[in-house]
Amino acid sequence: SGGNSESRGALVVLEGLDRSGKTSQSSRLLSYLEGLGHSAELWRFPDRSTDVGQMISSYLSNKSQLDDHMIHLLFSANRWEKRSLMETKLKTGTTLIVDRYSYSGVAFSSAKGLGVEWCKAPEVGLLSPDLILYLDIQPEKATERGGYGGERYEQLEFQKKVSQCYQVLHDASWKIVDACQPMKDIEKQLQELVLECVMTCQKGKPPANLWS
Ligand code: TMP
Repeated sequence: SGGNSESRGALVVLEGLDRSGKTSQSSRLLSYLEGLGHSAELWRFPDRSTDVGQMISSYLSNKSQLDDHMIHLLFSANRWEKRSLMETKLKTGTTLIVDRYSYSGVAFSSAKGLGVEWCKAPEVGLLSPDLILYLDIQPEKATERGGYGGERYEQLEFQKKVSQCYQVLHDASWKIVDACQPMKDIEKQLQELVLECVMTCQKGKPPANLWS
């Protein structure tokens, strides 16, 4: 609805630990934007619907074992296979709310001990987000929320390392939102940030590639 072909959509990324609330907040953001008449879609990575996504899914559910470098490159490939569609959507005025992106790729793989620069390399040339929202939660608090689905990375000790890796990655442009506030408050803060970003992109802010 309401896609203005003159203006581009915004690329909005949500990042955070497992159980930080990204997925619920992403769908709320989608409803919010649609309610305002904006053209918007909800995306997520990994996108498990593709062949590469199936390999990732099988790895995450411990049905297959893969070398750490190999799975890193598969996560990256899974973004590359969606890059041109992503670009088309943005160019034609659709805002994308993306649940995890390259920063998950780097944070989770570097938490295993792979070098940050090595992890970033295959992401170079993907589209750079217009807004990165980080849902900030202590690993212990996330664990308390329960509902870890038993996937490979859903363990407190590992999430602590991921949390540290996110700290290294983020810069001043990231919007850090306290994920332990009441849901409604988080929702409100995200809405304001996203709306401002959507407006800026509509006004002609040029798109960019990673890492910039
Ligand atoms: P999900 O629970 O959001 O579907 O993500 C699955 C897991 O994959 C989650 O623990 C984060 C991890 N992950 C990576 O390790 N690298 C990536 O590039 C992405 C997108 C996710």
